[in-house]
Amino acid sequence: MNDFFTVTGLTRTFGGVVAIDALDFAQKKGSIFSIIGPNGAGKTTLFNCISGIYRPDSGEICFQGRRIDGLKPDAIARHGIARTFQNLELFFRMTTMENLMLGRHIHMRTNIWHGLTMFHKNSTAAREEAEHREKVEHIIDLLDLQSARDVPVGALPYGRQKLVELGRALALEPSLLLLDEPSAGMTSDERQDLFFWIKDIQQELGVSILMIEHNMQMVMDISDRVLAIDFGKKLVEGTPEEVAAHPEVIKAYLGED
Ligand SMILES: Nc1ncnc2c1ncn2[C@@H]1O[C@H](COP(=O)(O)OP(=O)(O)O)[C@@H](O)[C@H]1O
Ligand SMILES: [Mg+2]
Repeated sequence: MNDFFTVTGLTRTFGGVVAIDALDFAQKKGSIFSIIGPNGAGKTTLFNCISGIYRPDSGEICFQGRRIDGLKPDAIARHGIARTFQNLELFFRMTTMENLMLGRHIHMRTNIWHGLTMFHKNSTAAREEAEHREKVEHIIDLLDLQSARDVPVGALPYGRQKLVELGRALALEPSLLLLDEPSAGMTSDERQDLFFWIKDIQQELGVSILMIEHNMQMVMDISDRVLAIDFGKKLVEGTPEEVAAHPEVIKAYLGED
């Protein structure tokens, strides 16, 4: 029925710890699907399996009709899946523009550093670089990052760094975007802005979003579907209202804070 993104019987262990335990879920194309659960529930491990950082022990991950479990991160990126990290993974001495250009590496036929130092304006490399810059400028506009464009990322406030990471993932032109706790460490104003950017990414760019998020208000407001996990297992999946009303979810959240 759903051939956009499906996870079936996914299991990943670390020694004796079962981080993901026979997990099943399916996401519809174009939707915002959120994953919630207490610390240690296995959320980031799930993303690491989807993005190819970890190889699952068993189970299947299918994207647009193809098995992607066990592929290398680059191959998964080429299938159109991009991600952000819970702890930012950016080049802090490089500018916003440069970090976003790196996000386009899977689309580059020629070496970017060669391209950046080219003086022959009519060369293929120079033309290609101009195309990449145009795409990146569009993302900078979309995320309102103009003032951060030429600033080393390390000099930006944390909320802006998170946006640069979002931009770097978007530069890949993904069909599916994985966001690991996008609003963590943000002020409530920044979170409000992020809400609208995520909505824009879904609606204007047509990107489907799979998101791990702790802020329940954000999850409730933005998600089409929510999956709650604990100990690597599904507690409940449904609409935000259905999930928030589930006694185990209430207990897990009260138990955490
Ligand atoms: N690389 C690893 N090596 C050993 N244990 C890990 C590793 N990654 C995750 N785990 C364990 O797997 C469980 C789930 O962790 P994680 O996926 O980070 O949870 P969450 O993102 O939901 O907080 C935890 O018990 C964690 O200690
Ligand atoms: Mg995590």
